[in-house]
This record gives sequence, C-alpha cells and structure tokens, in this order.
Amino acid sequence: MAETPSAPALLDPRLLQDPKMHARSRALFRASWQLLDPHLLEEGPELRPFVMLPGLLDEPLVRTPWALLPNVCTHRGATLIETPCQQRSLRCPYHGRRFSLAGRCEAAPGFDELEGFPSEADHLPEIEVEEWGPLRFASLDPLTSFEDIRAELDPWIGELVERPGQVLLREEDHHISANWALYVENYLEGLHLPFVHPDLSRQLSLPSYRYETLECGTLQIGAASAEQQCLDLPKGHPLEGQRIRALYVWLWPNTMINVYPWGLSMNRIEPRAGDETLVRYHTWVFDHIGSRNEVSAVAQTEAEDQQIVRRVQAGMRSSMVGPGTLHPEHEAGVVEFRRRLAEALAQCSTS
Ligand code: FES
Ligand SMILES: [Fe+2]
Repeated sequence: MAETPSAPALLDPRLLQDPKMHARSRALFRASWQLLDPHLLEEGPELRPFVMLPGLLDEPLVRTPWALLPNVCTHRGATLIETPCQQRSLRCPYHGRRFSLAGRCEAAPGFDELEGFPSEADHLPEIEVEEWGPLRFASLDPLTSFEDIRAELDPWIGELVERPGQVLLREEDHHISANWALYVENYLEGLHLPFVHPDLSRQLSLPSYRYETLECGTLQIGAASAEQQCLDLPKGHPLEGQRIRALYVWLWPNTMINVYPWGLSMNRIEPRAGDETLVRYHTWVFDHIGSRNEVSAVAQTEAEDQQIVRRVQAGMRSSMVGPGTLHPEHEAGVVEFRRRLAEALAQCSTS
C-alpha cells in the first residue's frame, strides 16, 4: 500500500525566541541575498566600512570604489578601517600589510623573502554585488545564483523595478521588540488587511487579492479598487490588461520589494536578537512632491504592521496557546515560510 505523504514540518515561531535558534539561523542568512544600503554603492572615491547584519552575522565589510571586500586583514584579522575615508589603498594598522582597493595583497612588511607569498589566502576575496534598478544585493555564501532569482522575478517585476527616474525620497530605520520572523509572517498574508490597514484596504479590491508561491519567495497581487491609479504593466506581463495597484514580493528570507504606480519601496528585516528586529525602509518615487501622500500612506501601513507584530510577540509568551490552523490560500505564504525555515534550520544544525 502506498504511503500517504506526511505534511511538511512547519516551524513553530515561538522557537525563534530562543537565543540558540537566533545563532543557528546565521548560516541561512549567510547563504541568502541581502539588500545593501543604497548609500554604500553611491559612486565616489570614499571607502565605506559597514557591518552586514549586526547582532547576527556581524560581518565586517568595506565598499571601495572598485569592490566590496572583507574589512579584515588576511594576516591575523585586524579590521582595516573604522570610519569612511579616502585612501588609495587599505593599510592594516597592526603589522602594515597593504591591499589594493580591489583586494590584492600588495605589500607585507617582513614577508618579502617568504617563498610562496602572497598566496590566494593572503588576498581579500571580492564579494559580488548584483544591481537591479536602484537595488543592490550581495551574498556571502550564495546558495542560489542571483541570475536564477532574477529569472523567476523578472516576468513579474523586472522592468517595473528598473523604471527610469526613480529617486530615493525616504529612508527610515525602526527598531521593533519582536522576532524578525513575525514581521515576515505578517507581510506574507492579506487576511489582516481590513483589520490592521483600513486605509490601505480602500485602495485595493480585497476579493481579488491573490498570492503566488515562487522558488525564491512569494508574490502578492493587489488589484486596485475602482478609483485608484494602476501600475502601467509592460507588454507581455502575466497580468497585462488587469488593474493592479501594487505587487508585493518577498524574497527569502528577509527582503521585501513593493512596486507601486508612483515608485518602489523596499524593506530589509534585520534580526538583531531573538526578540529584537531592525526594519529598514527605503522608498523611491518618480515625483517628489506629487507622491508625498502616497509615501506617508506607506509609512502609516508600516507603523500599523509594527504595532500588530509587537502584539504577536507579546502573545508568544503564552504557555497556553500555540500555533493555530493556517488558511491554505490566504496564508499559503506563511505556511511556505515556516516550512522553509524549518528546513533551513535543520540544515544549519547538521552542517
Ligand atoms: S593583522 Fe594585519 S598585518 Fe597583521
Ligand atoms: Fe500589513
């Protein structure tokens, strides 16, 4: 008799409150694509040090005019620079090793006579930066190629992300006393829209709200209500001819890209601790003045989400109530997220 396939294991989000689980999730973030701060990539002669995912990866990096590099000396590990500066090379303050701005080890006092020096391990490895419209991504140890991600997302939002003339209008950081996964789960379903976001709900035709599960994440399709401006979808788009107000993409594990008729917004959800998250919001618009109301409406939606996510975090303390039944259609994204988290964390613990 054929065995009935068992339902995939879903992660109980309460487990993520445990600091040990927070530490265990490092490997999955190292393997993922992370959005970079837009300012890091602005052209200019400056060297810009930063830390990728503080409190989780704590990865010291430096952006030079030529490359994205580890901000750590290949000799014995001193960090190379601490503040933005203009230099023609990176010189280590410990024993004077010097690197080009592309990461090559060019000098190492005392090592001149050493055979086989420098070896590959003495150069700084370059980290690829992927560009997509105004967005920039990097991965320390990618599990999936960015090309594969683009191949999946391009039919839906490829050209829309690249629309020319989008200018960065707003950037804000918000600290939330909640686990990062709760913020992501909240993003992945539209069931909460009429209760948490009454104003946003008036812009959308909620009965037509739809979901697509992708390999790299999920897509939510927000059809426009009657009087709302719609996305100008390119020819051949899968939704061509439909009145779409917004496309919401979640990219595993912690990136959100939202496409609107008036511009683009991205959210980067940074896990700082088991019960602490930094959410970084960036918004690009075509028209600074004309889009002010739209941008403040997005900020209102974000504030409403933060508020409800805080309440879910408070509920995680309950010893009486655990994860309930999820709706197979409206919460398919949440199911997929919990399944992927369970799988990724299981791999992290065995690798
Ligand atoms: S740690 Fe950099 S030269 Fe020794
Ligand atoms: Fe929401």
